[in-house]
Amino acid sequence: MRAVEISTPGPPEVLQPVERPDPVAAAGEVLIRVAAAGVNRPDVLQRRGAYPPPPGASDLPGLEVAGVIEARGDGAAEWRIGDRVCALVSGGGYAALCTAPAVQCLPIPASMDFVTAAAIPETFFTVWTNVFDRGRLRAGETALFHGGSSGIGTTAIQLAAARGARVFATAGSDDKCRACEQLGAERGINYRTEDFVNVIKQVTDGLGVDLILDIVGGDYIARDIAALAVEGRLVVIGFMGGDTATLDFRRILGRRLTITGSTLRPRTPAEKGEIAAALRREVWPLLERGEVKPIVYRTFPLEQAAAAHALMESSEHVGKIVLTV
Ligand SMILES: NC(=O)c1ccc[n+]([C@@H]2O[C@H](COP(=O)([O-])OP(=O)(O)OC[C@H]3O[C@@H](n4cnc5c(N)ncnc54)[C@H](OP(=O)(O)O)[C@@H]3O)[C@@H](O)[C@H]2O)c1
Repeated sequence: MRAVEISTPGPPEVLQPVERPDPVAAAGEVLIRVAAAGVNRPDVLQRRGAYPPPPGASDLPGLEVAGVIEARGDGAAEWRIGDRVCALVSGGGYAALCTAPAVQCLPIPASMDFVTAAAIPETFFTVWTNVFDRGRLRAGETALFHGGSSGIGTTAIQLAAARGARVFATAGSDDKCRACEQLGAERGINYRTEDFVNVIKQVTDGLGVDLILDIVGGDYIARDIAALAVEGRLVVIGFMGGDTATLDFRRILGRRLTITGSTLRPRTPAEKGEIAAALRREVWPLLERGEVKPIVYRTFPLEQAAAAHALMESSEHVGKIVLTV
């Protein structure tokens, strides 16, 4: 099969088109003929050598695919050959064929194309488990999403707004802030020109927000703590600004705050299957009705994965970058 591999850790150019043997679906898995594969920031980390695949996962990059079921392993009876699915995978997405645990597949809504569907799994699974499950965001509450224009941010804004939360988001330009507002954020906050703690205090009458989803880390953490309301939750899922922080615990005690975080990739298929079931129940109706839609910024042919990564590292994009196979 055609695939793109990480020839050695390094810059985007280390992503090289190759021929690889076709993968085989093991028990509980399906084999998907890939039509499109999403690009995610963790792929960039993996390419640089900073995010190795978990044991047993493909060494090829790619955490999400959309395509057609080509074969089934034993015990994957819930899907039929020819079904259109999108799937969360632990690697191997940058390829013409990819195996996926059957429980990590979801049906592509009838009116949705493969490119749009490939932009769903990684951010929707991540946002669901961190914002609504771990972070317990409820209708009527307030949320702040850092990196509002990212794949994660554009998903979080739409889902939280659709489920009745008041949403705020930070981003690195005024244009990105307006894009966040078009997706459902009440107020985009340009972190280059505004202090998000001050803005959050203004827009919440001094109370702070109930939930913050942070992909930046570093010196944002102490500021997040200052921007949270009583019983607020901080969920950390990335460290693009640094992986250590110094905190004043008096505010955590005084305001009864919760600090948590998680990473999706090493979790078991059973755990990911539970997230898939929740998405199918709670989020798929929104996708089917078009009330929530993955934002695809640009597509590249699979063989141009290096250009797709260069674009992602420029941070020019709003939403998702997708490879077509
Ligand atoms: N824990 C998990 O399970 C999990 C799963 C998936 C992704 N993630 C993490 O979530 C984050 C977003 O992933 P994604 O695929 O949505 O990324 P993405 O689409 O590439 O977006 C990242 C955006 O973050 C913004 N940003 C803010 N501070 C930054 C900084 N210090 N350095 C670089 N960019 C910065 C940039 O926009 P502006 O600066 O212009 O606003 C950039 O466009 C990543 O950290 C990723 O590792 C975690």
